[in-house]
Amino acid sequence: MTKSSTQTIPEATDTPQHVVMIMDGNGRWATDRFLPRTAGHVRGVQSVRRVVEACGRKGVRYLTLFAFSSENWRRPQEEVSLLMRLFVQTLEKEVDKLEEQGVRLRVVGDLSAFEPRLQELIKAAEKRTEHNNTLHLTIAANYGGRWDILQATRQALRDLPELAAHPENFTESILAERLSMAWAPEPDLFIRTGGEQRISNFLIWQLAYTEMYFTSVYWPDFDANALEEAFAWYRGRERRFGRTSAQLAEKQS
Ligand code: IPE
Ligand code: IPE
Ligand code: MG
Repeated sequence: MTKSSTQTIPEATDTPQHVVMIMDGNGRWATDRFLPRTAGHVRGVQSVRRVVEACGRKGVRYLTLFAFSSENWRRPQEEVSLLMRLFVQTLEKEVDKLEEQGVRLRVVGDLSAFEPRLQELIKAAEKRTEHNNTLHLTIAANYGGRWDILQATRQALRDLPELAAHPENFTESILAERLSMAWAPEPDLFIRTGGEQRISNFLIWQLAYTEMYFTSVYWPDFDANALEEAFAWYRGRERRFGRTSAQLAEKQS
């Protein structure tokens, strides 16, 4: 069980241990070039590769990428199908490379909505890389923060039916242990590309004390330099977790 930012004070390091990203702006990147939106998604896969490599080099331990939200089914059917095909193709093509790089791949979200072939590919890729420990790469697919909190609550009530009669015994950790990324520390740095400044139902529970970075760079243009800018910004943050600046200065002296 990893530490909770609201129950203990996590150690803040210069390099964020856990980085989470909303990869946004693929559609606008393509539209600006008079291309179909889907061309932006295809191009976006190159950014994923670049960012995984760069995070590995920088010593990030956990990288979590939002690939498809539980609300993205609302998009035109053509675009949803392309995204699913791209997911399958990328898994087929990239797993060998991830394996070589020592990357452990996991996919979180309600995977039951995906076609069986994609579900099998996901399972196989997770199995294939499960012994790796250099970088923990998680793809959030058909993921929603509200879905996650709900599924964790349901699971807790299933595991501990006595809680219904004694709700005062329902603790933060009972819930947190059942969230779909319970094995990862809470995110240190959140990055959203594409200019929007919102969470769009990503890891709403886990982002309680995460530093939030927004850039107008579209995801297909996001590269190692853009990542370094985000990291430099992160190094300049004072992570207080509820305390005062003076208390932090005292601790360091
Ligand atoms: C993010 O880019 C990719 C997914 C949501 C799958 P968008 O497709 O949302 O791109 P914009 O925001 O329309 O430019
Ligand atoms: C968030 O982007 C989801 C992913 C990047 C996977 P959206 O483009 O779907 O978010 P909204 O609709 O602009 O909030
Ligand atoms: Mg978008």
